[in-house]
Order: sequence, then structure tokens, then C-alpha cells
Amino acid sequence: MNKLMAWIDERLPVSNFVKNHLSQYYAPKNFNFFYYFGALAIFVFILQIVTGIFLTIHYKPDAVQAFASVEYIMRDVEWGWLIRYMHSTGASFFFIIIYLHMFRAMMYGSYKNPRELLWIFGMLIFVLLMAEAFMGYLLPWGQMSYWGAQVIISLFGAIPFIGESLATWIRGDYVISDATLNRFFAFHVIAIPLLLFALIYLHLAALHTTGSNNPDGIEIKNYKDENGIPLDGIPFHPYYTVKDVFGLSFFLIIFAFIVFFLPELGGYFLEKDNFVPANPLKTPEHIVPVWYFTPFYAILRAIPDKFGGVLVMGLAIFVLFLLPWIDRCPVKSMRYRSRVYKILLTLFAISFIGLGYIGMNPVTPILTWVGRLFTLIYFGFFIVLYFISPKEKTKNVPDRVTMHE
Ligand code: HEM
Repeated sequence: MNKLMAWIDERLPVSNFVKNHLSQYYAPKNFNFFYYFGALAIFVFILQIVTGIFLTIHYKPDAVQAFASVEYIMRDVEWGWLIRYMHSTGASFFFIIIYLHMFRAMMYGSYKNPRELLWIFGMLIFVLLMAEAFMGYLLPWGQMSYWGAQVIISLFGAIPFIGESLATWIRGDYVISDATLNRFFAFHVIAIPLLLFALIYLHLAALHTTGSNNPDGIEIKNYKDENGIPLDGIPFHPYYTVKDVFGLSFFLIIFAFIVFFLPELGGYFLEKDNFVPANPLKTPEHIVPVWYFTPFYAILRAIPDKFGGVLVMGLAIFVLFLLPWIDRCPVKSMRYRSRVYKILLTLFAISFIGLGYIGMNPVTPILTWVGRLFTLIYFGFFIVLYFISPKEKTKNVPDRVTMHE
């Protein structure tokens, strides 16, 4: 084995890679629950690729055959139902994981200097992930696939001057049709996954350049022993590989429970209307996007003007890119930040979940007004943060990380 390894190392530095990124890569020793989600995101990404390949074997990207081919996968292909449910459940879990992963970064200031680029890559991943999920949702060619895509693509039509031509260009037709399905298929199975892969690589390369942040927001690289090893660091392997495997086992139990017992999750993971084939002549009563889009959808609906809504919804995502420059407090972790910041972050989380709830429900006057209030709070978070963050009354940040038994 040693000889074989030496032979490979002369041609490809595998041992060096393992040393630099695993066995001698030092991560802060105080990672908590929220640090599971990066590794879980990698796992779910691979799961989606593998189950996606198997689905593609039997799926037909054709407006006449698509719906029936999915039913064929569900009923006739051996284990096809399992592969499909793993893929559809995987999509929702991907977003649960990513939202928690992003919120962790907000709690511990992980986007701040020197990790701004890591955050930007993360945000690009997030935008692409939404595009990936949106295009994938058209593929089963159910009622909600069809009408959901209809609503979202028609939003582009609200852009002055070029809007209508742009929407037609995206659809490849005047209405959602076979042409749209074909191109969405191409983007969903190859173009976007390739881009996602590249961005995940860059995300991790940036992470390993700066090193991880941690719940105390302390740079462990500032305190090293005589050998140059961070005093508060532990080798990623075996310590965090073992910890991540534990987290993964726990995740798999929950994931399997949903896949086997609640794959539709009461219409939240697979919407009821999508069990009806797409019918361009019959609009469903309530067109609702899948839950992970609803916070942004609610912001869109909160604005009375169509173009204004599109703009504000875009802004809701864009403003997140700027977070490293909006939050100017030198202290990273919320553990040592002011009470005002904790209140702001809590209000932000409440508004995001609230918007998600409102986006799932039919429009009523009360919900519209509550949606407007939450939209104000959502943007208010960033505006207030910009002004108060340099002047915050912070606590003393300890030199070394703290451990809670
Ligand atoms: C496919 C999607 C993604 C994958 C596979 C991924 C993977 C990872 C991994 C493995 C880590 C290190 C472990 C951890 O801190 O949990 C990490 C850290 C990080 N990720 Fe992601 N990530 C993804 C998406 C995102 C998104 C959407 C954002 C934010 C917009 C983001 C922001 C960050 C930040 C700021 C860190 C550093 C956290 C810290 O050190 O405290 N990531 N990511």
C-alpha cells in the first residue's frame, strides 16, 4: 500500500491534499450544532446528482410524455418511487439546510472580514440553487409546474421596454410549452449543476484559505503554539469527520422518515395540484410556489405595482450580497454583540418565516398588510444595521474560544 501511495504521490499529490485539508487542517474546537449544515449541504448536493441521474434514465423531457413518464417512474420502474421521493424530499431539505447554514453565518458574523468572498460565493450558490429548483419543478409537467412557471416567467414581462421580448425569449415560445420544458431540462440536469459544482469548489477553497469562523467569532489563527498550530484548533480528521458522520446519521433518520411516511408533507414538499397533468386551459385556484420560495413571493405580492414588486423582490436577495459591508460592527459573534443586534436578528428571522407563511396562503386584505409590515421589517433590518452597527455597545470578546460542557 505504501509503495502504491508513493507511486501515486509522485504523479498526483494526494497525501499532501489529505494532510492540508483533513488530517492537518485545523478547525476551531468549539463548533456547535449549526456547523453541521455545510457538510450536510455537500451530502444533499451529491444525493440530488445521483438520484437525478437515475430519474433522467426514465424521464421524458417532452410535453406530451413528461407527466406520464413520472407516473411510470412512480408505479412501474423498480424502486422508482424511492428515487423520486428522495429527489423531491432532497430539494426541500436542501433549502432547510441552506437557510440554517446562512442564518448561522448571520449569528456568528461569518461573512465579515476576511470571509466576504466566501459569503459572496455562498450567495451565488443560493441564487443558482433557486434557479435549479425552479426549473426542476417544471419537469413533472403537473398543473402547478405549468402555472407556477407561467406566473414567474410572466414577471419578467413587467420590465419596461424589453420585458415581453425577454419573457418570450426565456420560454422559447409565447406560452409555456414543449420548447420551455426542453430548455429547462437542459439547464436543470447539466448547466446549473455544473456551475453549482464549480461554485461549491470555490466556496470551499475560500473557506480553507481563511479557515472557519466559530460561535465565538474569534480568529483561532491569531493564537498559535511554537509549531504554528492554532491553540484552539483540532485536526478536521478524525475529529470533525466523526462529528459530521454523527450529524449525517441523525439527518438520515429524519430524511428517511419523511421519504417513507410523509413524502408530500401535506402538500408542502409536493403540491396537491401537481398530481394533475398540466392544462393550459385551466388555471388552478391558488397558484402557490413551493415553500422555500414563499418568503420572496410574499415580498413580491406586498408591492401593489407589478414591476415594483419584481424590483423589491430582487432587492431582497441582492441586499444579502452586501451584508459584509452593511454590518460594520467589528465584533463578529452575536454572543458578544449588543442586545439591539440580537433583537434585530430575531425580528429579521420572524419576518422571514412570517413572509414564508403569508406567501403560502391566498391573498386576503389582512395578510397583505401583515406581508407589507414584514417586508418593512425585512429591509429595516439591513437599514438599521448599517447605522447602528459601528456604534454598538459590545461585550469584551475573549482571546480564546470558550467551551460549554
Ligand atoms: C450547495 C451549497 C453549499 C455548500 C455545499 C456549502 C458548504 C459549506 C461547508 C462544508 C462549510 C464549512 C462547514 C460549515 O461551516 O458548516 C461552509 C461554510 C460557510 N458557508 Fe457554505 N455551503 C453552501 C452554501 C452556502 C450559502 C448559500 C451561503 C451564504 C450565502 C454560505 C455561506 C457560508 C459561510 C459564511 C461559511 C463559513 C462559516 C463559518 O466559518 O462560520 N454557504 N459551507
